[in-house]
Amino acid sequence: MTNNKYFEMNRAGWDQRVKPHFESKFYDVDGFLAGNTSLQEIELAELSNVRDKRLLHLQCHFGLDTLSWARQGAICTGVDISPVAIQKARDLTIATKLDTDFVCSDIYSFERKVAEPFDIVFTSYGAICWLPDLKKWAEVVASNLRTGGTFYMAEFHPIIELISGFSYFTQDQPDIDEEGTYTENGGDIVAKLATWPHPLSNVVNALLGAGIQVECLNEFPYSPYNCFEGMVEREPGRFYLSHKDHDIPIVYSIKGRKIA
Ligand SMILES: C[S@@+](CC[C@H](N)C(=O)[O-])C[C@H]1O[C@@H](n2cnc3c(N)ncnc32)[C@H](O)[C@@H]1O
Repeated sequence: MTNNKYFEMNRAGWDQRVKPHFESKFYDVDGFLAGNTSLQEIELAELSNVRDKRLLHLQCHFGLDTLSWARQGAICTGVDISPVAIQKARDLTIATKLDTDFVCSDIYSFERKVAEPFDIVFTSYGAICWLPDLKKWAEVVASNLRTGGTFYMAEFHPIIELISGFSYFTQDQPDIDEEGTYTENGGDIVAKLATWPHPLSNVVNALLGAGIQVECLNEFPYSPYNCFEGMVEREPGRFYLSHKDHDIPIVYSIKGRKIA
């Protein structure tokens, strides 16, 4: 199967997930519309001062995080492969009266509308596992970032793949899984989806290879999302997972700068 076929499979799966996600407590769209941010403590602490910055959000789903950055004063563009998600994001843009642009595209084919690259490229939680080629992904990041601009990601740690019985290391062929979704109301939704594992070293090396200087790499023993079996909320909004009585690193974050 070619990557295009896998992308088509994933697009169909993500299209299916949008409605239950939009209606879920997990995403809490009502809370967002009432003024809550969907951003989490990790990225809020590590990526500050976005006011008046042009921010590109890769794999934005239906735009809650993109619009939350816009509420903090960033001038945002969100990109996602799912037309159903992008339509919902555009509906939310109208409902919130925020001036945010949403583009339906797979990230590898994304074309900026204006010549000027972005000040910030952002991506988060459950994004890069849908991408087969991290070298190309890092090139997309770098080509859309101005020199001196900031790259930031917060992502689930790949060790979780290993503990769940999948490969930690890169494979040519994706893992194809027929799975439900992670929101509390998604029981009926089962979709065939293709994912690719990406060890931490590959993420860092792909960014370095594309000219993104890594300024910090952090690992966290908790996730802001209760989305893996067996998680325990030890502190409000911090979900932990243990392996042989020790905490698993669940989330990592990378902040980098594009060098000339
Ligand atoms: C888990 S979600 C994004 C996470 C985000 N933090 C959230 O929960 O809103 C993953 C997103 O990646 C998108 N996606 C998957 N493959 C993609 C691709 N090749 N190009 C662009 N978007 C893609 C899906 O449509 C989905 O909206």
